[in-house]
Amino acid sequence: MQTMSQNNLAEFFETCWQDKIDHTKTESDLSYSHPIEDALIYPIYKEIISELNIPANGGRILDVGCGSGRWVRYFSREFSPSRLLGLDLAISSIKLLEKWYSKINEIDISFAQADITSAKINLTETFDLVNVANVLFHIVDHDPFLQAIKNLKTVLEPNGYIFTTEYLPKTTLRSNMMLVHNRDDFERVINHVGLRIVDIRATSFFANDPMGLDASEESLRNEFLTVKSAINKMLSEQIDEQKHTRTVNLFASLEHTLLKFCKSRMDDVDLPSQKLVVLTHT
Ligand SMILES: C[S@@+](CC[C@H](N)C(=O)[O-])C[C@H]1O[C@@H](n2cnc3c(N)ncnc32)[C@H](O)[C@@H]1O
Repeated sequence: MQTMSQNNLAEFFETCWQDKIDHTKTESDLSYSHPIEDALIYPIYKEIISELNIPANGGRILDVGCGSGRWVRYFSREFSPSRLLGLDLAISSIKLLEKWYSKINEIDISFAQADITSAKINLTETFDLVNVANVLFHIVDHDPFLQAIKNLKTVLEPNGYIFTTEYLPKTTLRSNMMLVHNRDDFERVINHVGLRIVDIRATSFFANDPMGLDASEESLRNEFLTVKSAINKMLSEQIDEQKHTRTVNLFASLEHTLLKFCKSRMDDVDLPSQKLVVLTHT
């Protein structure tokens, strides 16, 4: 399979966020993530932040791969950090977020262009929470991946936590712009740089690609994709906002119930789901 190079990936996201700069009229036009995924993952973030006593209120948060500001919106609405820094490889993401979020209440907020895989990255601050959602699996080679994990550790406070969304299938999977490490390889790299996994929480089955599922393209994975695209089609056909919200809530509670049932019988890491993985220093 032909994979995108780091440069092509950067170009892809440059275009994606430039398009948002050109066409965003209201804040809701900035949204990029799947509404069902949002409905499922945001409460899980809150739960873990509370369980681990992470100082999201008053503390320092870094969002790596800030894109169109999804997590900036989340952290600044749900919490009141003293500092919020967003980094992204794409300059257009930084321009977009500087335009929309240069000031939020009392938060010391800023954005900067940075490649998290670079050995020369100049990060001088440290953070209580480093969020790197839907980013690490876009690093398609081993050495840059290792360097990225080292960089994340460098900016982490001694009692800080990293939140990363992963799939952790049993065998490594690739798509044209993703390298999805199997769970053993992922953990080996994490442990190698002096980090450890604290928690793994399965978040959603159908609101994402089935990259947690190492079945063949012809079989179960395609069935997942078929369900996913049927859900997306249904959502896109509903222009009525109330109906749309009701459908999102219905699918989110369906997934939530299914996940709960599965989790009572199986470890989260074994589910064919996206996962929130929490890391800290060893
Ligand atoms: C799939 S989007 C995820 C956006 C957001 N974090 C979310 O969860 O919806 C991936 C983002 O990571 C950024 N990114 C990819 N590789 C990166 C790297 N090496 N360093 C910094 N940002 C990177 C991309 O430019 C893009 O904005």
